[in-house]
Amino acid sequence: KAIQLSDYRAPNYQVETTHLRFELFNDYTIVHSKLELVRHQADATSLHLDGQELELISIELDGQPLTAERYVLGEESMEIHGLGERHTLAIVTRIYPAKNTALEGLYRSGGMYCTQCEAEGFRRITYYPDRPDVMSVFTTEIIADAEQFPVLLSNGNPVSETVSDGKRHAVWLDPHKKPAYLFALVAGDLKVKEDRFTTMSGRDVVLKIFVEPQNIDKTDYAIDALQRSMRWDEEVYGREYDLDIFMIVAVDDFNMGAMENKGLNVFNSSCVLANPATATDAAYQRIESIVAHEYFHNWSGNRVTCRDWFQLSLKEGFTVFRDAGFSADMNSATVKRVEDAKIMRTVQFAEDGGPMAHPVQPDAYIEISNFYTVTIYEKGCEVVGMLHKILGAEKFRKGSDLYFARHDGQAVTINEFVSAMQDASGIDLTLFKRWYKQAGTPIVSATTKYDAEAKTLSLTLRQHTPDTPKQTNKLPVWIPVQLGLLDANGNDMAIQVEPAAAWTPESQVLHFKEAEQTFVFSGVTTEPVVSLFRDFSAPVKVQFDQTPTDLLFLLKHDSDGFNRWDAGQRLMLHWIEQAAATSEFSLAPTEREALASLLADTELDAAMVAYLLTLPSEAYISEFSDVVDPLRIHTSREAVCQAIAVDLSAEFKDCYLRLCSSDEYAPIPAQMTARALKNLALSYWARVTDEGLEQAQQQFASADNMTDQMAALIVMVNSGNEAVAAPALTSFYQQWQTDPLVVNQWLSAQAGSSAMGTVEHVKYLLAHPAFDWRNPNKVRSVISIFANQSLVNFHREDGAGYALLADAVIRLNSSNPQIASRLLTPLTKWQRLVPTLSQLMKAELQRIMHQGNLSKDVYEVVSKSLGTS
Ligand code: ARG
Ligand code: ZN
Repeated sequence: KAIQLSDYRAPNYQVETTHLRFELFNDYTIVHSKLELVRHQADATSLHLDGQELELISIELDGQPLTAERYVLGEESMEIHGLGERHTLAIVTRIYPAKNTALEGLYRSGGMYCTQCEAEGFRRITYYPDRPDVMSVFTTEIIADAEQFPVLLSNGNPVSETVSDGKRHAVWLDPHKKPAYLFALVAGDLKVKEDRFTTMSGRDVVLKIFVEPQNIDKTDYAIDALQRSMRWDEEVYGREYDLDIFMIVAVDDFNMGAMENKGLNVFNSSCVLANPATATDAAYQRIESIVAHEYFHNWSGNRVTCRDWFQLSLKEGFTVFRDAGFSADMNSATVKRVEDAKIMRTVQFAEDGGPMAHPVQPDAYIEISNFYTVTIYEKGCEVVGMLHKILGAEKFRKGSDLYFARHDGQAVTINEFVSAMQDASGIDLTLFKRWYKQAGTPIVSATTKYDAEAKTLSLTLRQHTPDTPKQTNKLPVWIPVQLGLLDANGNDMAIQVEPAAAWTPESQVLHFKEAEQTFVFSGVTTEPVVSLFRDFSAPVKVQFDQTPTDLLFLLKHDSDGFNRWDAGQRLMLHWIEQAAATSEFSLAPTEREALASLLADTELDAAMVAYLLTLPSEAYISEFSDVVDPLRIHTSREAVCQAIAVDLSAEFKDCYLRLCSSDEYAPIPAQMTARALKNLALSYWARVTDEGLEQAQQQFASADNMTDQMAALIVMVNSGNEAVAAPALTSFYQQWQTDPLVVNQWLSAQAGSSAMGTVEHVKYLLAHPAFDWRNPNKVRSVISIFANQSLVNFHREDGAGYALLADAVIRLNSSNPQIASRLLTPLTKWQRLVPTLSQLMKAELQRIMHQGNLSKDVYEVVSKSLGTS
């Protein structure tokens, strides 16, 4: 059942050109495909085509109907035999987009038609060699009712559009060879926002964002983000756009965030639409990064694509790295680094420690859709980031240039990416490649010894990567350890280290490559405080005992913003452990003082201050316990949160009042960072005083932007005060019920709250008219948010939270397998829970397993979680 990397074979035939004609009728669509085939493997005589849920109407080879003995139809394939050097293959199929609830291939969303073909959706449109190493020049004709569908779009440049007999007929030609997963078609009654961009070589490109008419006032920011992305990719990577037009379409029903189809990106409307009244600052930042991500794929993904899906991280890891660089440049690099590290340490480390653990380059899968993971994306990004640290910015850019020049128009492997980096830099990266092959999070332990007489500090590092399913006895990896030594004043000491070859002074990186290594720093006149893994320089877990005093010192003085934050998090973890052990907690005066001075520090980026004052999440705390007790984690974290709020309530109030502003809302960094801190201060202040809670009510009522309105609503919901929360929720719903994206935020605010997101309340939300099982955003807003954020309720002791999630998976298994499978993630963590909960959770997985008729998507995750595959 599983597909193996080692089984890869190049395709027998290439498709030189692909000509598609779509006739859209109300109840069905007819797809005519004409392929120019050319032999690719000497002596090959057979062709494999993929097909799913297709009604075959006709097949012709070189103009003649293909007789039955020349081809074999399988359940999901067609095999044609007796072929020669070149052929023209014409196939007609009928499909039913309106009945397509899986949202793969061609489907209807509201009144429009759209497609999602990555990874294997194109096979639901027509019979085709649906694999990324088959690259073709596509021409697309679309014929549809002229009135119902004024807009007909496909990839590339427009060729013609005519209307006759009430039918509109549009033709698009994409001159760039591409795999079928990058194909897209859109038809609808859409409004367009238009702008322009002049590329670095002076070419004029038309930019268009298509939306449903009611959303036309939500397109400004995406256009702006797109223009900034295009400029940035020219400046930082030397990449220029390559068509006359670049289009984005917003779609309400979409399984993922967005898709980089050539010249025609399709977006989940939640990842592209925004105006101040309806979108939060967080939504603006998400839009900025996803618009950039999809645009950057034009080079890292489209011009140079993947040979097969085991190479998925080739395009995703690199593109996430590129979009992270963009976001860092547009906002604050330190804040971006903190946000990315948080995701790695919670979601990705948990994936690495669970049954779905896989390397950045997996070697087997049952359903590729299950591998669009934080490991492929975010760990893949971190691995590229380590290459950047090891090579330095200049050589990295040379490597990137070489990669694009060498492989333009090709479908390649991760190995070819690393080879380009190696060839351009002259640095041997053989050892580095282990990062792509080994699953699991390396654990690095560090010990130091200071010799006052010799004025040396020795640092001993040990590394070990735990076993993961089907992978044992892992080898050491090349870990770049960016570090500093702080003197008594908190300043960085100059570093001299033995062996000198292990140190790159420009980047302050130590190269740690063996199971155990000792490095000796000389000229260390006083005992330093060590700051390890600055800038989160490697995706590893670190075991390094530092005293609360040292952590407080780093929190105050570290020149590396990331490690200041990290020291604070480690200190807070101590507090939370203390609270768990003694069920009591109060801040020491020095600690209180440190937090107060952070809060008053107007030099620091305000968003950074907000992160510095936010406790580690329950998910992050879980990563430090061998046996996870969600209730205990929640209670002890709450105790610390309460203590901080009580001890500093006056400071939080001052901070809040200082940051209240009457400036007109704008989604610009200076304002967004201030609002982040202001609303964090409000949440602490409102937690412990009536005055603060009243202030939240007032902010809710008077806010002219969604960031402030939503922040205040969440404070009220989390207050646990029904008399405050209920009326606010009612009035919010009345105000926004016609805007689905805002309603989703309203659903999430409730489902994700420990105070309010109980099993009963979630059931109420599922029955609410605002909910819709067919819409992935709604399912995520209620069910995923509940299971991932309202942890005390999800882990309820009678198992009702698990049962609710399992019911949802069972329900969605047949209608939308991708979404069903994604929902499952929290249930895969059963092995690490306290025994009573663990049993209950496992029982739900077994219940799903016994349903029968499981999709490949759900089957793979459940069987791996139960250890049966
Ligand atoms: N390539 C898209 C992106 O990175 C994601 C597509 C995911 N599709 C899927 N079926 N899992 O933005
Ligand atoms: Zn991507």
